[in-house]
Amino acid sequence: MSQNKDKEPKESENNTKKGILSPEALDQEKNQEATTRPKKLAEFLGQTELKNKLSIFIEAARNRGESLDHVLFHGHPGLGKTTLAQILANELGVAFRATSGPVIERAGDLAAILTNLSPKEVLFIDEIHRLSPSIEEYLYPAMEDFKLDLMLGQGPGARSVRLDLAPFTLVGATTRAGLLTPPLRERFGILQRLEFYRPDELALIVQRASTILGAKTTPEGVAEIARRSRGTPRIAGRLLRRVRDFAEVKAQGLIDQKTAGEALAMLDIDDYGLDNLDRRILYTICERFSGGPVGLETLATAVGEEAETILEVYEPFMIQEGFIHRSPRGRLATAKAYEHLGLVPPKAPNTLF
Ligand SMILES: Nc1ncnc2c1ncn2[C@@H]1O[C@H](COP(=O)(O)OP(=O)(O)OP(=O)(O)O)[C@@H](O)[C@H]1O
Ligand SMILES: [Mg+2]
Repeated sequence: MSQNKDKEPKESENNTKKGILSPEALDQEKNQEATTRPKKLAEFLGQTELKNKLSIFIEAARNRGESLDHVLFHGHPGLGKTTLAQILANELGVAFRATSGPVIERAGDLAAILTNLSPKEVLFIDEIHRLSPSIEEYLYPAMEDFKLDLMLGQGPGARSVRLDLAPFTLVGATTRAGLLTPPLRERFGILQRLEFYRPDELALIVQRASTILGAKTTPEGVAEIARRSRGTPRIAGRLLRRVRDFAEVKAQGLIDQKTAGEALAMLDIDDYGLDNLDRRILYTICERFSGGPVGLETLATAVGEEAETILEVYEPFMIQEGFIHRSPRGRLATAKAYEHLGLVPPKAPNTLF
């Protein structure tokens, strides 16, 4: 499952992270994900506070006829950063250009992108924390003054030229806000964090996606999928598609609570939405490392997964739900983790809780 993280853009990578799909199935998944992707702010469900703020900023920029200030979205994978970036362009009525941090290798790449932007367009840079430091330097004047300073030639004959750029909106997305350099972060006028979604918000998302996909559901069936989607719309969409497959074959296409429960059990998704690898991570901390603390790298080797994947994809939800505690000395299993796995916690826990 290891992927070349340094070369490839990450979009849709998380579809394969859980390791269940063939390449053909993955293509189909991507298409279906695209069909259900919201295009307007009103279709983007949940994250109410964030949406309210964005709609004010969008309206103000539109009324003034100016480009929207630069926006940074940060949050765990699958919470809707790319979707929101596209929605911003749609709502502003401007074109959407997308690239990603690791793809921009040379200053010339960035210059080509920036000089081709028309006024007020949205330039989306995914995984912006992976821009190289030298490229970042070029971005600063571009963001601040819509100017690009290019060096022409080399050695003593080299000279710098300053190009004017059209005023544009940079929308950056990152799963790792902590890795962003302060000068880059400070040049964003709007910084927004996306949170995990509540089950009732996810239920609306599952309901909307079922309607678009033409799947028959009962409210209880929808709630069951929502409850086990780890607070993440991308996972909700994926589980819905798998449950729909199951319902079509086994239950005349109706997704009710029983069918959803059976389908999710078949996929080894438990009551909290944890899957095999989540549970393996918990088991490893509890059993092999006596509850921890265990360092991330050691844990990753023990479960056979990349440290970065555990850090970005698996661990955040388990931390939020109180299964894992992150301390300066490493990860600790909580009493809830032991209980969930049906294990007896150690008599003298190593933990602080
Ligand atoms: N608020 C929402 N309402 C409805 N659907 C949503 C919402 N947020 C996300 N989705 C759906 O979830 C899927 C994943 O969203 P998106 O690709 O925007 O996540 P992301 O934050 O960019 O993830 P990554 O960090 O992996 O790039 C999309 O297909 C989109 O349709
Ligand atoms: Mg994305």
